Amino acid sequence: MPSGTNYLLKGRKRRLLRQLKQMGIKDERILQAIAAVPREHFVKNPEKAYDNVALPIGKGQTISQPYTVAFQTLLLNPQKGERILEIGTGSGYQAAILAFLGAEVFSIERIPSLSEEAKERLQKLGFKQVHCFVGDGTLGLPQYAPYDGILVTAAAPAVPKQLLEQLKVGGRLVIPVGKSKSLQRMLCIYKKSSRQFERSEHGFFAFVPLIGKEGWH
Ligand SMILES: C[S@@+](CC[C@H](N)C(=O)[O-])C[C@H]1O[C@@H](n2cnc3c(N)ncnc32)[C@H](O)[C@@H]1O
Repeated sequence: MPSGTNYLLKGRKRRLLRQLKQMGIKDERILQAIAAVPREHFVKNPEKAYDNVALPIGKGQTISQPYTVAFQTLLLNPQKGERILEIGTGSGYQAAILAFLGAEVFSIERIPSLSEEAKERLQKLGFKQVHCFVGDGTLGLPQYAPYDGILVTAAAPAVPKQLLEQLKVGGRLVIPVGKSKSLQRMLCIYKKSSRQFERSEHGFFAFVPLIGKEGWH
């Protein structure tokens, strides 16, 4: 990147952080994570890295809008040392944010080349506590379950049962769900006991589809 670009990105990053605060993201830990994780390394067009928009990452997929990343992270509320499963590694950016917050992250992606690129990128940037897998995340990742939190970054037609099973009691599942492919409701599901769940709703978002056995076909 040319040297002037760095200066430009710093200014854009400050503007993004101001926008996120105005949009209700007040959690200092999350703002610090957004400030610290270099989004320009996760996108194809670095000059747009700090625009508050989703951007293409190849294979018809996107890196989520920074506001969406911040909002889902806020709902998940990951704590240091917690084990978090992410469905939809994509560029690896959301996984890096969770790792920056001290979580051990298990991230699964259905498109092998995206997973491979994300893995290399995360290694280069030093995010050793992110473990990348290729597979159908609608089935979770049972070999490392249970998880303190599960974050789904693609749109599901319904809540996959396997994900509820792989949550610890006291764990949270954050997932956009909807019958429409263009707009989904953000749900946060808290596991009260092995059979009891408490569900809250948090507005509407637009994600790429979650494709798999318990997702879209
Ligand atoms: C919005 S992108 C994720 C953005 C990503 N979290 C990031 O930080 O760049 C959604 C991703 O979910 C993946 N995906 C869709 N269905 C999946 C499934 N069943 N299992 C795993 N990944 C899936 C897509 O291939 C895509 O990369």
